[in-house]
Amino acid sequence: MDELGASLPRLRTAIPGPRGEAYVARLAETECPAFTARRARRAHESGASHDPIVWSEALGANVVDADGNVFVDLTSGFGASVLGHRHPRVVEAIQRQSERLIHALGDVHPSEPKLALLEKLAQIAPFEGAKTLLTLSGADAVEAALKTAVLHTGRPGVLAFEGGYHGLSHGPLAACGYSDAFRRPFLAQLNPETHFIPFPDADPEASLERARALLDAHPIGAVLIEPILGRGGTKVPPEGFLAELARLARERGAVVVADEIYTGLGRTGARFRSVAAGLVPDLLCLGKALGGGMPVSACVGRPEVMAAWGDPSGEAIHTGTFFGHPLGSAASLATLEVLEAERLDRRAAEVGARFRAKLVERTGRAVRGEGLLLAVDLGRAGRALAIVRAMLERGYIVLPTGRDASALGLTPPLTIDERLLDGFADALADALEETP
Ligand SMILES: Cc1ncc(COP(=O)(O)O)c(C=O)c1O
Repeated sequence: MDELGASLPRLRTAIPGPRGEAYVARLAETECPAFTARRARRAHESGASHDPIVWSEALGANVVDADGNVFVDLTSGFGASVLGHRHPRVVEAIQRQSERLIHALGDVHPSEPKLALLEKLAQIAPFEGAKTLLTLSGADAVEAALKTAVLHTGRPGVLAFEGGYHGLSHGPLAACGYSDAFRRPFLAQLNPETHFIPFPDADPEASLERARALLDAHPIGAVLIEPILGRGGTKVPPEGFLAELARLARERGAVVVADEIYTGLGRTGARFRSVAAGLVPDLLCLGKALGGGMPVSACVGRPEVMAAWGDPSGEAIHTGTFFGHPLGSAASLATLEVLEAERLDRRAAEVGARFRAKLVERTGRAVRGEGLLLAVDLGRAGRALAIVRAMLERGYIVLPTGRDASALGLTPPLTIDERLLDGFADALADALEETP
């Protein structure tokens, strides 16, 4: 039998099994109704149950549910468990740190791992002398970047992209082009100087033209872009677009914020996808993979841009109790070391190319993305909802991607055994045949 961590699916009950079902009934009693409502809507739209499995253990690319079923995780837990779940180096770092210091005094009296993480980020940043605000979630990192842009430029406006997703606290929510439904109830609380342009996958010239017109007409301080649209459908901008966008922005005094929360740290085959595509940003947002499964994010900036925080009135106007947390920082350092030592960016590129070819061969569907940030186009709005379920019942955890759920998003751990990817491609071909 395969070892847990690199095992093909092993299912022993219906999905979810009896223990899982009991947990799900309890969940509806206490969780925010938004999640229960989403499951009900998805079930209604797809004609398939969307009851979740309850995770009780995970290792490498495997997740074990409350009924002892073993699944292969093609999400890395929203991209965060980039080395696989419970990577031994990350576990060891957390254990070691927990025996010395769990919580410190943040920005007043920092811990050793926080300092080491700041130095490591300065070392890997794509510009000299990087200064960093450490935060917890992706939304926090984008929030910090948007505030930095206002302080540096004195301009409140943000140029963002249709389809873009940057987290859901108020700053990033204002720039959420993923769905109007997320912004609508809170519109009165959101930055009114936010302008959207189409993501350039269809007509890049039109996007650039629109960017130019908006930058000329409005006090825009930040241009915020995902170098590959993640949650919005894994869309890749054409070559040259990012560099041209940056030129337009800088010519007009705006800073460029690369939201690399999904794309960063190797997933696309490069350490930073923006840099590989010819854009060295002014502010770089990292999250997800940065903590190797712990909640760690960062806004890493050019020193001349971050200097805006050093206002002589001398107050730390952006901070948080848990920012730069010792356990998270220790996990993050271990993660960055493994990513580098094992050249997992290269592995993502190589394994991703083979996986992509296999998916095309087995399913005949178009596959987009780069490295191990991929999406299988299922050709019809909503189809991914039924397929996600059919795959769960075959032992594979995947998510729909894109607002219209017309594609399957694939973001497996960068360490995943290729046998599991082959198994997934075969199972997907089977599911597509059975669930037209
Ligand atoms: C590109 C991007 N930015 C920001 C976020 C928000 O991160 P978080 O959910 O940790 O706030 C996400 C989450 O999916 C993301 O994909």
